[in-house]
Amino acid sequence: METKLVLHSQFPIGEVSPLIFGGFLEHLGRSIYTGVYDPDSAHADGEGMRQDVIEALRELEMTIVRYPGGNFASGYHWRDGVGPRESRPTVRELAWQSLEPNTFGTDEFVNLCRKVGWQPMIAVNLGTGSPEEARDWVEYCNSPIGTRYADERAANGSADPFDVPIWCLGNEMDGPWQLGHVPADQYGIRAQQAAKMMKDCDRSIATVACGSSGSQMPTFLEWDRQVLEHLGDLADYVSLHRYVGNRDGNSVDYLAISNSIDRQIEAVDACTRLVAEQRRASSRAWLCFDEWNVWYRARGQGGGRGTIAPPLLEERYNLEDALVVAMFLMSFIRHADCVKIANLAQLVNVIGPVMTRGDELFKQTIFHAFRMISSRKTGVSLRGAVVGPRYTSERYGEVAYLDHAAMLDGDRLHVFAVNRSLDEDLRLSVELDRSIAKVVDAEILHAELQAENDFDAPDRVSSAPFDGWLVQGSAEAVLPPHSFTATTFALR
Ligand code: AHR
Repeated sequence: METKLVLHSQFPIGEVSPLIFGGFLEHLGRSIYTGVYDPDSAHADGEGMRQDVIEALRELEMTIVRYPGGNFASGYHWRDGVGPRESRPTVRELAWQSLEPNTFGTDEFVNLCRKVGWQPMIAVNLGTGSPEEARDWVEYCNSPIGTRYADERAANGSADPFDVPIWCLGNEMDGPWQLGHVPADQYGIRAQQAAKMMKDCDRSIATVACGSSGSQMPTFLEWDRQVLEHLGDLADYVSLHRYVGNRDGNSVDYLAISNSIDRQIEAVDACTRLVAEQRRASSRAWLCFDEWNVWYRARGQGGGRGTIAPPLLEERYNLEDALVVAMFLMSFIRHADCVKIANLAQLVNVIGPVMTRGDELFKQTIFHAFRMISSRKTGVSLRGAVVGPRYTSERYGEVAYLDHAAMLDGDRLHVFAVNRSLDEDLRLSVELDRSIAKVVDAEILHAELQAENDFDAPDRVSSAPFDGWLVQGSAEAVLPPHSFTATTFALR
């Protein structure tokens, strides 16, 4: 099978936002407690953070992390999680039916972000919380000392503001499962009130309005339209969420899923443009894909049964899931003109790239796919023409066997390529209007389609150096079936 990827440096889509390489940390299951934070672990540093987990997460080169939920956010009162630990309350947590000890809160989260090099991103409670409580949280985090909540932060050990730049106006408020769920117009009013007060408190912050929690929602787009109309200029971004899976064991179909990811992005983009035009506004809301991943196996587990850190949503990933994770990121890169933030959901144990068991840790297959792209994160996304064979999937329509993204970074070109074929090699040639001089580095992720990593076999699926490129002005390589290749070329 032969495919040509034709690129031209004068056909840019847009600068790739570094913030599309984000993550998400929720008070859910073993994500925080026994995940990133475990004072009892042999790996804990002086502040109870797990150094082995931090070291692994650092490799992902994430730029921004969203916190504290998720569904959790809609019942969370931030003041429960600040101040002396011994006086923080243990509370019933209703989103996941767990117990929340509140020993990890805002200060710990910001401290973790600083250790790893992430920008913090906070989702306020617009379910059971008030717009004013959200405003107060902005003051706690971002105001200089001299007023009530800023002084409380200083008393808790941080005289300097945390400078949290991005704030989500609640979470999945369109979903009936969400605490405090309301129709779009009511959420729009609530979010408008909150955003106004939050921005009045700190004019530098950017806000993310809750968009639809998936394209399957009955109110998809109508919800987004109404919310954006209510918020006007107060919404800098609108959120998208998407969890996918190979529910019927049809890998041919599953690997065509990027069609529907592209479509979801393009539909929400159209909606935001529509609202901006109707408002005759010079600015528009950008897309913030603040929850995305594969998640379909570890569902419906009956909740946390009133315990602290129950094992919930502990999805195990195989190679085909890693290919799909690469496809999500490639879709974001191809939509660099509108997708400006994206957060892999989540980080550790809970639908995460990293798993822990006691003091052990292993990296899931999706870890490698994410890292292979995030380590090549700078540049301008290029529009690519794919000339080659295609197939028609039952659920997602027609796709090329090659899924791709390409970025031009000065004298470097990054090319990402998935061969979707389950049984055939794909001979790929990459052509650019500039001459490709050599491979700087290239790696491949390739294994049995269903292969997983585990505590006993942590490297069964791992990226390996790829030396298959033949470079002569253009570049040519044979990509094995169901594989993902990430390459950086030097240009002449
Ligand atoms: O990431 C897991 C959950 O999925 C989040 O809490 C929620 O926002 C979404 O439904």
